[in-house]
Amino acid sequence: MTIFAPDDVLVLGAGAAGMMCAAQAGQAGLRVRLIDHASKIGEKIRISGGGRCNFTNTHLNGHDGAAYFVSQQPRFVRHALSRYHAGDFVQLLARHGIEWQEKHRGQLFCRHSATDIIALLQRECAQGQVQWHTGTRILSVDYRNNLYQVHTEQDCFQAAALVVATGGLAAPAIGASGFGYELAKQFGHSIITPQAALVPLRFEHWQSHGFDALAGVALPVAVRCGSGKQAMVFEEDLLFRHKGLSGPAILQISSYWQPGQTLSIDLCPQLDLAAALCRGKHGQKIRLDTALHQLAPQLPKRLIDFWLAQAPFAALAKQRWADIADHHLNALAYSLKHWQVLPSGHDGHKKAEVTRGGVNVAEIDPKTMASRLQPGLYFIGEVMDITGWLGGYNFQWAWSSAVCAARAL
Ligand code: FDA
Repeated sequence: MTIFAPDDVLVLGAGAAGMMCAAQAGQAGLRVRLIDHASKIGEKIRISGGGRCNFTNTHLNGHDGAAYFVSQQPRFVRHALSRYHAGDFVQLLARHGIEWQEKHRGQLFCRHSATDIIALLQRECAQGQVQWHTGTRILSVDYRNNLYQVHTEQDCFQAAALVVATGGLAAPAIGASGFGYELAKQFGHSIITPQAALVPLRFEHWQSHGFDALAGVALPVAVRCGSGKQAMVFEEDLLFRHKGLSGPAILQISSYWQPGQTLSIDLCPQLDLAAALCRGKHGQKIRLDTALHQLAPQLPKRLIDFWLAQAPFAALAKQRWADIADHHLNALAYSLKHWQVLPSGHDGHKKAEVTRGGVNVAEIDPKTMASRLQPGLYFIGEVMDITGWLGGYNFQWAWSSAVCAARAL
């Protein structure tokens, strides 16, 4: 075993946050060592955004950001996001000549490939003379004589500061582990129970009710979870799957959903369907299914046919629209505007994009990401109880928290 002379900083986890922090600290003149158990680094960046990495979101510009994050203390993000914001990361891309494009709702993606961002972070680390140790399992971490000692299978590394950037539990096949939570607990931190988030939802009896026949159908919806001030609503696309529901609307609401809660889905959010059906019917000779197509063209034909084949609407589908009583039309509209579904669970960490919960931010300084309990210990990125919405918010949190910590080291 080689025992290395003390460095200034050891960063555990060479993902988005870890590489960013190591690069910035190295460029500020600190001796930095980056350690990861995976041999291929930045794997989540590589697979993100369908291979194009949705690296930030312009909605964070000029906004304190708290509304886009799920946490016991969402306001925790405000300082870091103001110190290093979406525009700062875009400038970094520009310095590296990386082209990007804006898509839906302020989401910025690489124009060519997510690997451009991994290469950028590697170049930034090289500029900061960061030392790398990948494919090396961490056996234990101790704190003695004001130094952290990280023991791996081959070596012992030491430093006065330790940055934990080991992420959450999502996508274990590419290196995710609960290591960061265990380490946090070792130094007295509490953990908000980690749960899969941005994850497809499942339903009991989905197939026996025939919903699997709708697999592949996608449409814009408004999905609601909770009630009163606690209610969350997302207007996004929904996708029917063989085993349940997915698509951006469901992924977003999954970060707020608690087991036992019913979701209310408006399958036709653009229209007051009851009024349109009741007021528009006079003198209409077309059938109800045709009427629905005309009134709500965003409702896919397969969904309309499926809905009208269900009791109590089965008898109505082929009737002339004008002949159908208002109370039937109102009931049909209500069923499409207030579809109540009770998820039985989700697809788990394997299919989740992120983990909600994590190291309790009440025990972390929001200006520096330093532990309030243990000297020289820092947490950055997804390992903390900070979970962004779908749309580039999670990577922006990784960049912003990493830069804040690096400036404080
Ligand atoms: P990250 O998970 O990136 O890195 C953690 C590192 O720690 C990894 O390299 C891992 O190998 C290492 N590690 C873990 N355990 C260890 C141990 N025991 N010892 C040593 N090393 C260890 N977000 C977004 O904003 N836009 C997007 O487009 C997407 N898309 C997306 C797609 C998919 C499929 C997933 C799974 C996730 C996303 N995300 C996303 C989420 C985003 O990838 C995530 O929030 C960030 O990568 C978090 O960055 P971190 O650096 O905190 O953790």
